[in-house]
Amino acid sequence: MGLTRVSGLLFGGDYNPEQWPEHVWDEDVRLMAEAGVNMATVAVFSWSRLEPRPGEYDFGWLDRVMDLLHANGVAADLATATATPPPWLVREHPQVLPVDATGTRLDFGSRQSYCPSSPVFRTATVRLARAMAERYGDHPALAMWHISNEYADHTLECFCEESARHFRRWLRERHGSVDGLNAAWGTSCWGQHYTAFDQVNPPRKAPGPVNPAQLLDWRRFCSDALLECFELEREVLREVTPEIPVTTNFMSVLHGLDYWKWAEAEDVVSDDAYPDPADPTSHVTVALSYDLMRSLRRQPWILLEQAASAVSWREVNAPKPPGMMRLHSLQAVAHGADGAMFFQWRQAKYGPEKFHSALLPHGGVASRGWRDTLALGADLKRLAEVAGTPTTAHVALVLGWDSWWGLEAPESMPSNRLRLKELLQAWYGPLHAAGVAVDLVPPLGDLSGYRVVIAPNLYMCTGEQAAWLEAFPGHLVVGPFSGVVDSDDQVHEGGAPGPLRALLGVTVDEFWPLPEGTVQSLRLAGRAVPARTWAEWLRVEDASGDTFGDTEVLARYEGGDLDGQAAITRRGNAVYLGCLPEDVTPVLTEVLAAAGVEPVAVVPEGVEATRRGDHLFLLNHTTDPVKVDLAEPGTDLLTGRDLAGPIEIPGRDAVVLRLANSGARRTDTESPLTNEGER
Ligand code: GAL
Repeated sequence: MGLTRVSGLLFGGDYNPEQWPEHVWDEDVRLMAEAGVNMATVAVFSWSRLEPRPGEYDFGWLDRVMDLLHANGVAADLATATATPPPWLVREHPQVLPVDATGTRLDFGSRQSYCPSSPVFRTATVRLARAMAERYGDHPALAMWHISNEYADHTLECFCEESARHFRRWLRERHGSVDGLNAAWGTSCWGQHYTAFDQVNPPRKAPGPVNPAQLLDWRRFCSDALLECFELEREVLREVTPEIPVTTNFMSVLHGLDYWKWAEAEDVVSDDAYPDPADPTSHVTVALSYDLMRSLRRQPWILLEQAASAVSWREVNAPKPPGMMRLHSLQAVAHGADGAMFFQWRQAKYGPEKFHSALLPHGGVASRGWRDTLALGADLKRLAEVAGTPTTAHVALVLGWDSWWGLEAPESMPSNRLRLKELLQAWYGPLHAAGVAVDLVPPLGDLSGYRVVIAPNLYMCTGEQAAWLEAFPGHLVVGPFSGVVDSDDQVHEGGAPGPLRALLGVTVDEFWPLPEGTVQSLRLAGRAVPARTWAEWLRVEDASGDTFGDTEVLARYEGGDLDGQAAITRRGNAVYLGCLPEDVTPVLTEVLAAAGVEPVAVVPEGVEATRRGDHLFLLNHTTDPVKVDLAEPGTDLLTGRDLAGPIEIPGRDAVVLRLANSGARRTDTESPLTNEGER
């Protein structure tokens, strides 16, 4: 199954023709063809226009849009249109509207105004999805299904009575009995012992901190409840149009949804990414999410939304300076995307997003934005042969949602300053700077092919996960506050890192979180390096007081309360950090060297190097020209020039080399998404 109707890289964006009079549509498709647009995402928020009254459909306008797109060589990423229920549905069935943690029912007037557990909502979405599939299943423009839109963007959870009943059913399934739930949730604490499931509620606003195990199950439940909504629609689509791939657009590294689980449920991973143009490090942050997207199904993915320039939802919405829109699009491709698409095609005239940039700005074809659109379309065409090519990484970062949810439970942790995204970035940043390719893996994921595995934090770690890491023959790095609790958020006796103690050869005596402004220094590779958020009092001995013997201390704290104590240790090939040093580069450099991991290319600061198959991407994120010495000659696909030796890359520019020595040129520009797993 693949996008058999599209070849090369995907280019285009969300297209909302229902916001415009029909005469504008002709201009739209003419300009799309001019810009080389080959895909448009349509009908995302069109439910109220497609089904204006219950069971009464108005498909005429969408028929004309689909025909126009097809006639102009544009494929449709067709939404099931279920992201916003229509007014008639919520007025007839107010229980469809979501309720917040204080019990307030949120009204209609924005989008995603639904309770994920509502049977009325679910039934209505499935009915619409079936109607869409039956109407457009045979339409030649249809290339991909787009279910709903950005699940959990506005509505991740609902605290209504229906959700409470659904949560209880989910809990019964997970824990078997009320006693099972009592044991897992530790309800003997604070007098919460339940005697029946119907006494259990979602974690609504309570007088004090809510049971963290209840919160953890709630996070799991909320991710699953939305996934059920997705799967109900997907089942209908698979039944009616089994050959059309299904996606839903993810939101980068999102706390609310367990994307490992979600990615298994779809055919193609797609993502929406909005790096802030005002943040000079945003290309590093976004690279991590791109690598996650590629890792989720270990196959190319689609950047389905990004901004052509400014967004409309930050405090201050900075535009993208010249070159950045192109560079960021190429960056996604460099990290495994088989398409660079946008929100949205034509800049809106009204609504909350009227100031959000688009491929075709308010200023029309005379604008800077339109020139950039034309140029990017041409560039993506030049890169067609990159579609479908794989990325190889020898380093993996571990990311697990259960552990993340446990770590970031409010009000019950030693510190609220340990945030998973920051912990991931603390490792990802230096790896990125070193030009090393990185995958992400879930706990218990396949580690074959990796030489280095880094778990920046594994707060929650089961015995099975510890055995999984023990069986890894390469170099392991485990970050602080790991191995603390089991899957029910109950502390491992004997102290952290719990089931990882023997592997790491260390026991945490006491957590030593650092308040804002406090610095605990450590001596690392001959230098004083500050730790600013977290430290631990480590014992290089097991729980019974026997020393592990062969644990080496790689760094000790210097000064402060922990003076002289071990800060970073190593046992065999396993390094443990009891703190978060401001810069982990010295640790990383040593581990990478020991594991024989090489950078993709040696590049100056601010230049990103990635490889896909036989293609080397060099992206200059600085505003100045840089010199790069090419280790291998090749042809720059963007300019057609043959390049070798030292080259210069202008500021915010890129080179995409087809390496001369890496084998024959790919001539097939098959669909980017033709079952990549099997390619
Ligand atoms: C996304 C959403 C789009 C649009 C865009 C604006 O979150 O899917 O519909 O709102 O943001 O940046």
